[in-house]
Amino acid sequence: MSNIPKHIGVIMDGNGRWAKRRGLPRSAGHKAGADNLEKICDYCNSLGVKALTVYAFSTENWNRPKAEIDALMELLYNYLLTVEEKFRNRNMKLQISGDVTALSEKIQKAIVHAEEVTSSGDGMILNIALNYGGRAEIVNAARKSAEDVKSGKIRPEDIDEDYLGRYMYTSNLPEVDLIIRPSGEKRLSNFLLWQAAYAEFWYSDICWPDFGNDDMKQAILDYQNRDRRFGGV
Ligand code: FPP
Repeated sequence: MSNIPKHIGVIMDGNGRWAKRRGLPRSAGHKAGADNLEKICDYCNSLGVKALTVYAFSTENWNRPKAEIDALMELLYNYLLTVEEKFRNRNMKLQISGDVTALSEKIQKAIVHAEEVTSSGDGMILNIALNYGGRAEIVNAARKSAEDVKSGKIRPEDIDEDYLGRYMYTSNLPEVDLIIRPSGEKRLSNFLLWQAAYAEFWYSDICWPDFGNDDMKQAILDYQNRDRRFGGV
């Protein structure tokens, strides 16, 4: 139980393949993925993980067929409606990271409500990356810093990593220690680009809906045996 990663990022990949192998529509894979997220949340919360960031919808996912986007949005909306009840006993807090202004008004309202009613939770923060892109996040931070220069709040030379970092969606969360990608792919796909600077990576061939507590345990045990030097010796 010692050296538990404070902040874990998960690319919930492989839902489509999971569904295809079972002759089910892709939306059934996403539903199974959302169900699995609940199980993994409970497990991470019980271990004392402070924050779990999950990639639910990227800025590139708008390129998917409309029916799949609609199904994903409906799934997210229904999930947001259940957060108040689900998170209460677990003492968990919800955070959404990404450009939510592109989402429907119905979803935006549900986000505000879900974040508000869970804001006093002092257990794990579930941070859902929604309409999120790592590059867009950095562009947004650069733009805000430029505005600060323009308004005379700071000088260009005042912009450093700490300054830019304060404009990242995750500025309130601990550094990302571990990034997990199931389903066999080995790339970041625009996830937590800024935050991944010194994160450890763990890959697995298992599709996300089948990624169980034992797999998470394996990833954490492996992480605990890494020698993290942060550029030192
Ligand atoms: C990638 O797998 C997964 C997504 C783009 C969506 C992930 C979303 C969920 C698991 C639902 C989240 C819901 C809540 C409630 C937070 P893929 O579809 O690209 O899989 P494939 O590579 O096998 O096709």
